[in-house]
Amino acid sequence: MPNVAVIGAQWGDEGKGKVVDWLASRADVVVRFQGGHNAGHTLVVGNQTYKLSLLPSGLVRGKLGVIGNGVVIDPVALLAEMDRVRAQGLDVTPDNLRIAENAILILPVHGALDRAREAARGDRKIGTTGRGIGPAYEDKVARRAIRVCDLAEPDVLSDKLDELLLHHNTLLTGLGAQPAQKQELLDLLLGLAPRLLPHVEAVWERLDEARRAGRRILFEGAQAVMLDVDHGTYPFVTSSNTIAATAAAGSGIGPAVIGFVLGIAKAYSTRVGAGPFPTELHDETGRQLGTRGHEFGTVTGRPRRCGWFDAALVRQAVKVGGIQGLALTKLDVLDGMAELKIGVGYEINGKRLNHLPAGQAAQAAAKPIYETIEGWAGSTRGARSWAALPAQAIKYVRRVEELVETPVTLLSTSPERDDTILMRDPFES
Ligand code: GDP
Ligand code: IMO
Ligand code: MG
Repeated sequence: MPNVAVIGAQWGDEGKGKVVDWLASRADVVVRFQGGHNAGHTLVVGNQTYKLSLLPSGLVRGKLGVIGNGVVIDPVALLAEMDRVRAQGLDVTPDNLRIAENAILILPVHGALDRAREAARGDRKIGTTGRGIGPAYEDKVARRAIRVCDLAEPDVLSDKLDELLLHHNTLLTGLGAQPAQKQELLDLLLGLAPRLLPHVEAVWERLDEARRAGRRILFEGAQAVMLDVDHGTYPFVTSSNTIAATAAAGSGIGPAVIGFVLGIAKAYSTRVGAGPFPTELHDETGRQLGTRGHEFGTVTGRPRRCGWFDAALVRQAVKVGGIQGLALTKLDVLDGMAELKIGVGYEINGKRLNHLPAGQAAQAAAKPIYETIEGWAGSTRGARSWAALPAQAIKYVRRVEELVETPVTLLSTSPERDDTILMRDPFES
């Protein structure tokens, strides 16, 4: 099976965009299957930097991009992103971007509800991106969501908006926020429809054709396993399943079509937003990682919390996420650090555990157990071959492999597209 799924193995921002862009040169189709414009994927190609949220990263390589049914689409944000990348010289047309007719739309009421709820939570807030992701997925399972296909059926759209607003305006009013006006929403959606509908189709059929023709499909995950709504640090998670299995349900293909699952992990850890983070560093080392790694959220600009690599957590992400090979990114950020630590398990209320249990209090109480490993004096920055790496950096990678019980099949040594070392081609696995 020549296909590959790429998913995050920590709390997001591991460098999925860079890796997907790099792998896209070997693929024919790139598919987004969950999440929405809470994602921010950065691609550095020469002197151009692309920041993509909804558009599949393969578009930059001139490949067919597909937005699957599992994605929640803010149509205003999508059209703005299309205009933004067009201004950077990329062509986005109905020929290279296809959108699932059964994907869910994010409306302005979803963002308003997301933000009003966060404000009401006060210091118990999740730290969402405020973009309406959670409320839109709630509407989907509650069977009142507006879908992309509704843009072509104005009467259905109008009726569905009545039902949706009955629910949302009650909530918004209760939270002290402005209720939404139906006519305004209807006008907005029907106004955007002519620009979106030429991209819309039954993408499951196109993907099935691609599969039968032996085309290589690359599934681009957003967020990461520890933000998965089932397997992550709930409730401090996003509202979709981020594990590889979602690539099937979120694009309309069978699980056997997914192929090789590549997990992306940073050589240390970061997290944006609230929630447990056992190996977080509040000291100078944490600040150093943040500065050297330019750890600011791609979407919200918030500083990312930083800490040591947590092998126990990534090992858990590997198991539940279905990860078969690991791409380790940002190794260069560790250059020159005298001593490195790797989390190998937790002490929770006096008991040793090798995984993070589900309980919220237990997760908050988890203290990391560390293994110390010598750093390296030389540079890994920009290395494109295994031979160019300092011996101690190779030792670090080998130790990570052992602890997470998964081979490191790809290394990334700078933001730049080609500063990548391939150990095993995931499309040949
Ligand atoms: P994503 O959400 O997983 O696609 O990751 P983001 O793009 O949000 O964040 C990753 C950041 O790290 C981006 O600014 C990338 O340009 C950058 N990056 C990716 N790989 C590397 C690497 O190997 N080294 C360094 N220094 N930066 C990297
Ligand atoms: P990429 O694809 C990092 C986090 C938010 C918050 C939580 C819930 O770039 O890795 P949401 O708006 O989804 O309801 O917020 O999830 N979050 C991300 N963190 N990278 C992302 O995407 C994220 N998408 C959501 O910060 O903690
Ligand atoms: Mg990101």
